Amino acid sequence: MKRFLTMLSATIVISALATIGYAVTTGPEKVAYTPKMGTVTFDHQAHQKRTDCSTCHHTEDYAKCTSCHGVDPKAPKAKNAFHKTCKGCHKEMKKGPTKCKECHIK
Ligand code: HEC
Ligand code: HEC
Ligand code: HEC
Ligand code: HEC
Repeated sequence: MKRFLTMLSATIVISALATIGYAVTTGPEKVAYTPKMGTVTFDHQAHQKRTDCSTCHHTEDYAKCTSCHGVDPKAPKAKNAFHKTCKGCHKEMKKGPTKCKECHIK
C-alpha cells in the first residue's frame, strides 16, 4: 500500500510537470498587435482548435513570425505574411474577419 502511494504521488508530480511543459510550448492565449492601422487582437488559443500548428508555424520551434518576417530578406514582409495567413484562411473558410476594420480596431 505504501509503495502504491509513493508510485501514485510520483505519477501526480510527473503529470503536473507535463502540464507545465505543455503550457509553455502552446504559446500565448491571446496576442495583440498595435500597428497604426488599428489594434488586432488574435485569439491564439481559439485558433489552435481551428487548425494545425503548421498552418501558421513553419517549424516546431515556434519562433516569432517577426523574428524573420521584416528581418530576413528571403522572408516576405511581416504585413504580407500576416495578411496572407490570416485573411487567406478567413476568405477560404468564409468565416472570420476579412475587412480591414473588422481586424484593425481603433
Ligand atoms: C492561426 C495561426 C496560428 C496557429 C494555428 C498556431 N499559432 Fe502559435 N502563434 C501564432 C502567432 C501569430 C503567434 C504570435 C507570435 C508572433 O507574432 O510571431 C504565435 C505564437 C506562438 C508561440 C510563442 C512564440 C514566442 O516566442 O512568442 C508558441 C510557443 C506557439 N505559438 C505555439 C503554437 C502551437 C504549439 C500551435 C498548435 C497547437 C500553434 N502555435 C498554433 C499563430 C498561430
Ligand atoms: C525562422 C524564420 C521564419 C519564421 C519564424 C516565420 N517565417 Fe514565414 N517565411 C520565412 C521565409 C524565409 C519565407 C519565404 C520562403 C518560403 O516561402 O519558404 C516565409 C514565408 C512565409 C509565407 C509566404 C508563403 C507563401 O506561400 O507565399 C507566409 C504566409 C508566412 N511565411 C507566414 C508566417 C507566419 C504567420 C509566421 C509566424 C506564425 C512565420 N511565417 C514565421 C521565414 C520564417
Ligand atoms: C485555419 C484558418 C485560420 C487562420 C490561419 C486564421 N484564422 Fe482567424 N478565424 C478563423 C475562423 C474559422 C474564425 C471564425 C470563428 C467563428 O466565427 O466561429 C476566425 C476568427 C477570427 C477573429 C474573430 C475573433 C475570434 O477569434 O473568433 C479574429 C480577430 C481573427 N480570426 C484573427 C486572425 C489573425 C490575426 C490571424 C493570423 C495571425 C488568423 N485569424 C488566422 C480561421 C483562421
Ligand atoms: C484577419 C485580420 C486582418 C485583416 C482583415 C487586415 N489586417 Fe492588416 N494586419 C493584420 C495583422 C495581424 C498585422 C500585423 C501587425 C503587426 O505586425 O504589428 C497587420 C498589419 C497591417 C499593416 C502594417 C502595419 C505596420 O505598422 O507595419 C497595415 C498598413 C495593414 N495591416 C493594413 C490593412 C488594410 C488596409 C486592410 C484591409 C484591406 C487590412 N490590414 C486587413 C491583420 C489584418
